[in-house]
Order: sequence, then C-alpha cells, then structure tokens
Amino acid sequence: MSLAFKNIFHGYGGLEVLKDVSFKTEPGRITVLLGPSGCGKSTLLKLAAGFEKPVMGSVCFNESPVTGPGVERGMMFQTPVLFDWLTVAGNVAFGLRQAGVRGKEQQDRVNRFMALTGLADFKDYYPGALSGGMQQRAALARLLVMEPQCLLMDEPFSGLDAQLRPKMQELVLSVWRDLRPTVLFVTHDVEEALVLGHRILVFSKRPGHIVKDIERALEKKDPLDQLTDPGFGKEKKNILEILRDL
Ligand SMILES: Nc1ncnc2c1ncn2[C@@H]1O[C@H](COP(=O)(O)OP(=O)(O)O)[C@@H](O)[C@H]1O
Ligand SMILES: [Mg+2]
Repeated sequence: MSLAFKNIFHGYGGLEVLKDVSFKTEPGRITVLLGPSGCGKSTLLKLAAGFEKPVMGSVCFNESPVTGPGVERGMMFQTPVLFDWLTVAGNVAFGLRQAGVRGKEQQDRVNRFMALTGLADFKDYYPGALSGGMQQRAALARLLVMEPQCLLMDEPFSGLDAQLRPKMQELVLSVWRDLRPTVLFVTHDVEEALVLGHRILVFSKRPGHIVKDIERALEKKDPLDQLTDPGFGKEKKNILEILRDL
C-alpha cells in the first residue's frame, strides 16, 4: 500500500513545475506535502491519482506503474464536488451504485461511513443545505465508502473557517485511527502539516523539489492540544524558517 515517486520531472509547456522529486509513502501513515503556493503540490497529487503522466520519472502504487485513475487511490479536493440533486446519503451511495453494490450491503456501508464522518443525522439533507464543513464531511464519506487503500487529499480544509479546521483535522485523525489508510495530504499551512503529519515533506518554490524530510511521532493528540504543546511553537518556527529561506 505505498506510492513511490521516482525522479519525477513535470511541467506544462515551458513551465518547469516539479524537478527531480523522489519519495515513497509509508503504508498506513499520513505523509504531508507542504510548500508554497504554485510549487507543484497539486500537480504531484494529479500524478498520483493518474490524471496526468509525468514528463520524466515514474509513479508506482504497490510496485505497479500508475497508468490512470483507480478506486484504490481516492482523491479529495478543496471544493467538495457533490451532486446537488442527490441527498447526502445519495452522494455517498453513488460510487457504490456505479460499482454494482446494492441493497443491504450498500445501505450498511453508507450508514457506516456517514456515522464515521459525523453525518448520521444529515442523511436526507441536500448538499446546498449543509455548511462547508459538513459538505467536506460528505465528500470524505463518499471517498471512504469505496474503501480506497490510499487517500489523496488536496488542501481539503483551506476553504473553511479557521475555527472549523481543528475539528476537520480531528476527523482526519479519527478516520486514520479507525482505518489506518495511507494518506498523502497537501497543505500550505504549517500548523496543519504538524497537526496531521507523521512525516512532512517540505517543498521548495517552483520548480518544486523536496528540501526537508521531517519524521514525527505516530500517535497524535487532539489538534487543539497539539497546538498548545510546549514544543509545537518551536517546530513551527523551524519549518517557517526553512520556508522563509527558500
Ligand atoms: N494544467 C495545467 N496547465 C498549465 N499550467 C498548469 C496546469 N496545472 C498547473 N499548472 C501550473 O503549475 C504550477 C504548479 O501548480 P500546482 O501544482 O497547482 O501548485 P500548488 O498546488 O503547489 O499550489 C502553477 O504555476 C500552475 O499555474
Ligand atoms: Mg494546489
């Protein structure tokens, strides 16, 4: 259950976006990609998802080359991309229906993942009636219900209010404790990287390459407790200094 990027070079026309990026995710761990806006973080996730192929280098999942999108690698974006005309339960059930999972199994799986994401009471709501945070919960439930081995999360909370973010981060941590997925999480927010990451890869500005590989503890406290931990400020400063000096 690991994604391996080997000597990735990528760009668009004359624009060099990624420059010799190599790393391998640890199975069942949250790897955070942190870097300035425009450094190629989303591009790297698009390569992992199989939406694009690298100009040079290789992307492998479980030792096999990634040749296109697949349900084993589920993607979550900054905007929730829900179907407005379906209820939350309908949205969560959509992929299962496409995959031919019906009846009680479909119902059980939808219920399980709605409960896991805190949406049990919102099954019959339409997305338009939900807050941004609830919509992202629905997007996460819709992703998890397909039981992907790897979650590709592209700044899923950066559009939400600052007060809501620790709650959503706690949701990611609780999902991780329950399911132990391999997660590749993109953010430009240093606090979010520290709160979620078992490992943080810091990227340079474009053309993006890894400038620092930081290992962190596996067990994570509640995000708010982490933020007020004595060592947290120092870790944040260290990373901010790396980003400042790029
Ligand atoms: N499909 C595309 N065509 C042309 N340029 C693109 C395309 N996708 C991304 N870019 C450019 O590549 C650079 C990196 O983009 P992106 O990976 O989205 O950065 P990040 O997610 O780190 O902010 C940006 O300059 C962006 O404008
Ligand atoms: Mg991006």
